[in-house]
Amino acid sequence: MKIAMVGSGYVGLVSGACFADFGHDVVCIDKDQSKIDRLHEGVMPIYEPGLAELVGANVKAGRLSFTTDLAEGIRGASAIFIAVGTPSRRGDGHADLSFVYAVAKEVGEALENDAVVVTKSTVPVGTGDEVERILAASGTSHRVSVVSNPEFLREGAAIGDFKRPDRIVIGAEDDFGREIMREVYRPLFLNESPILFTSRRSSELIKYAANAFLATKITFINEMADLCEKVGANVQDVSRGIGMDNRIGSKFLHAGPGYGGSCFPKDTLALLKTAEDYESPVRIVEAVVKTNDSRKRAMGRKVIDALGGMDAARGKKVALLGLTFKPNTDDMRDSPAIAIAQTLVDAGVKVAAYDPEGMEQARPLMPEVAMTESPYEAIEGADAIAIVTEWDAFRALDLARVKELAKAPVLVDLRNIYQPDDVRALGFTYASIGRG
Ligand code: UGA
Repeated sequence: MKIAMVGSGYVGLVSGACFADFGHDVVCIDKDQSKIDRLHEGVMPIYEPGLAELVGANVKAGRLSFTTDLAEGIRGASAIFIAVGTPSRRGDGHADLSFVYAVAKEVGEALENDAVVVTKSTVPVGTGDEVERILAASGTSHRVSVVSNPEFLREGAAIGDFKRPDRIVIGAEDDFGREIMREVYRPLFLNESPILFTSRRSSELIKYAANAFLATKITFINEMADLCEKVGANVQDVSRGIGMDNRIGSKFLHAGPGYGGSCFPKDTLALLKTAEDYESPVRIVEAVVKTNDSRKRAMGRKVIDALGGMDAARGKKVALLGLTFKPNTDDMRDSPAIAIAQTLVDAGVKVAAYDPEGMEQARPLMPEVAMTESPYEAIEGADAIAIVTEWDAFRALDLARVKELAKAPVLVDLRNIYQPDDVRALGFTYASIGRG
């Protein structure tokens, strides 16, 4: 089957490469000429483990190609995926659907065969209806079915998530749409990945509900962590203790500096807007958004406390280890590190930072932070060291060397990757999350 993937960002490129790997004939389309040129040279626009190899192998096998020409790219495709960005619209938090609608219009005008048009971008409820209207208005004489097929992959684990999903959700309104989608996912179907067919609107909402629920789980455990600190309990034990209940589940119960990234912050806001538009409030999600926002700066204050408070902190130096919103990505979008660094800078603290992949993206977001070549360079002369992202590279730091290089052995572990007793035994003053 020929598949066209319009938008070669995170979701589009990973999905396209994986579909090609299943044996489909895939064309990835993007307006950005330099991105397409780089893809032709085998250079990935994002950092994602295993992606360059997967893309390379499928290009070599002749199943994956790239173009900026949408009309050429979609010619003969049975499934045309829309996987362009849906950023938060400036000012109101609504998902900006202008890219999705522009693609729908272009597809309608260029279509030369019957096809299923699939929204893979995260889009609010009702977007499929509008895409359908746009396609109809383009005057195409071909049969078109608009389907919703949200993507649940995580950055850093994208290929594994795509190839071994917990479920595939397909929101289709007719048999033509369902049949083509079955064909698209047949390799996974054979693999016994569950496929859930729903209405298009349900499918669109599933994506937001899933992300909002996960964001809620994280925020819940983060607040439990704060309470643990006050009452002298250990949040990791609390997580384990509640997570062993199958109804709760153990995943996404790691307390930390707050969620970030390209999805949870944007999607929770967009869900709030939808709820507002339909006058059906989702107050839990409202609280999650507020709580998570204030948590990021609170983490900066936690580091300031470790320096001895506001007055003592002025002029001191902090080493930030990890800047990306999570490990195994170079993505800085809504990373807690941004608010943490800003809080420190605002308090007159000098900040040096190191991240294995994210420094290029981080630099313009935190111009006052000195980027370094290694964790140890950041730590040199520091009055406190804060671990912000749990990169493997920080899990086994040479703590003796850290102690020697730092001005004061103060470690603030915002991801709980060290054992308090071990670190304290080495003479560190150690603060972490929810281990009171
Ligand atoms: C998230 C969802 O997990 C994916 O299922 C979804 O497809 C994706 O959004 C999307 O909508 O495209 P992602 O943003 O890549 O994926 O990252 P996650 O691994 O979910 O982490 C999000 C944030 O939550 C990170 O800042 C992470 O540090 C934080 N987190 C996660 C915690 O603080 N605690 C946890 O237990 C888990």
